[in-house]
Amino acid sequence: MTNNPKPSTRVVLLAAGHGKRMKSSKSKVLHEVLGKPILGRILAAVEAMDIEHVYVIIGHAAEQLRDYIEAFPPRTPHSLQLQNPQLGTGHALQQIVPDLGDFHGTLLVSVADAPLLSAEALGRLLSYHQEQNSQVTLLTADVDDAKNYGRIVRDDAGHVKAIVEDKDCSAEQKKIREINTAIYCFEWPAIKEGLSGLKNENRQKEYYLTDVVGWAYEKKMKTAAIVASDWRETAGINSRLELSEACKSLRDIAVRKLSLESGVTFVDPESTWIAPEAKIGQDTTILPGCVLFGDIEIGSNCVIGPHTYFNGKVAIGDGTNVIQSNVSNSTIGNDCKVGPFAHLRDQNVISNNVRIGNFVEIKHAMIASKTNVSHLSYVGDAEIGSGSNLGAGTITANYNHTTKKKSRTVIGNNASTGSNSVLVAPIVVGDGAAVAAGTVATRDVPAGALAVGRARQENKEGWNKQQASRVETK
Ligand code: UD1
Ligand code: MG
Repeated sequence: MTNNPKPSTRVVLLAAGHGKRMKSSKSKVLHEVLGKPILGRILAAVEAMDIEHVYVIIGHAAEQLRDYIEAFPPRTPHSLQLQNPQLGTGHALQQIVPDLGDFHGTLLVSVADAPLLSAEALGRLLSYHQEQNSQVTLLTADVDDAKNYGRIVRDDAGHVKAIVEDKDCSAEQKKIREINTAIYCFEWPAIKEGLSGLKNENRQKEYYLTDVVGWAYEKKMKTAAIVASDWRETAGINSRLELSEACKSLRDIAVRKLSLESGVTFVDPESTWIAPEAKIGQDTTILPGCVLFGDIEIGSNCVIGPHTYFNGKVAIGDGTNVIQSNVSNSTIGNDCKVGPFAHLRDQNVISNNVRIGNFVEIKHAMIASKTNVSHLSYVGDAEIGSGSNLGAGTITANYNHTTKKKSRTVIGNNASTGSNSVLVAPIVVGDGAAVAAGTVATRDVPAGALAVGRARQENKEGWNKQQASRVETK
């Protein structure tokens, strides 16, 4: 400790509960709030802090949580602790006691069902706890509607005396509007005895973590509390209705932050769904009906929408317009025009000044600058050079149904394809080459060549008159 003046802090996230009120086969904390599971949101907040270890207590639907954390591991050193059976929040915390060994420091314990919890709110609680030198510090919230939250009971001097669960409250206690967010700092090992001595003598027959607070007060330990600046930030999700309220609250936070700090215009915030982690440049306008989920980075002076859906990792350069389109896991450069009704379906790298028009689907493709794919095309597993033009209805036939293999189409610079061309991959169309309209190209087209692969047209002179005379002679 002498080399490290910062007290040790470990975080514990309680995620083992059933979440019955969600009425779901999925773990409550894996339900998404604006494109990211509740647990992922809390882990992102923890990750942004300087924490030596985070424990996640799992139990109900443990495998789902294990798989999630394996797929999206937090950068903070972490471990999962199984709580089985799940006998309450106090019992959940008891699960890490063997692992704590001779740990001396602060346990920052939080329910894992509070998706709007930020690193700032957690940091404020932790700093206050350490400044106050208290054994127990609570993050509380003042609310108009105390719902089913535990109530904070203070003594005459204003010190926190106990937390009483809603179901165990007297009529008088029910009126209390300061609630327990279930986000706490505990000094370890000071509270060890209180945790191990918990009893389940309450309406729910559970071992409540909240009872540690009353125990610490009885033991004349220092119990402090800090009130959250915005109760919505600490709200726990127990039902689908609360989930949708959390989505709205997070959207409002995002719109406020991006409008005021980044200079982004949201024409209709109510119909826009975007999370605060999105990065958007100055003077970009988001038109109504956009759902922009994922790891989103949009440059300046763009117009996105109306009715555009992003998901996954999407990066858009400056001055680009994306109108009424779907984009997932793709990069689009500067000054591009995309849509309406374009679908960029994963692993696309689109360079600058590219036009991707209506009813164009693009997957796993690289398109160099100043190239146009303006109408009704499918471009999959392809590489297209710069200054090229794909005519309406150009299709890269990338999939062989018999071998179940996909092959690549490579088109050079300044090349063109006529309307309704089919390029049967694998195929290379060289620089400056052209593919005539209606061609089904099955062989490479050399640079500068014209490929024509369609039935030759035959004109039957006088056909119309012949038809007419046949009718008359009948
Ligand atoms: C809890 C608090 C309540 C507080 C509210 C804030 C207790 C007894 N009550 O109530 O004072 O106002 O949070 O949101 O702590 N969990 C486990 N193991 C269990 C039970 C629960 O890990 O055996 C986890 C759940 O997965 C959940 C969290 O603990 O993430 C809270 O459980 P929940 O059932 O939502 O408690 P609340 O009724 O909301
Ligand atoms: Mg809860």
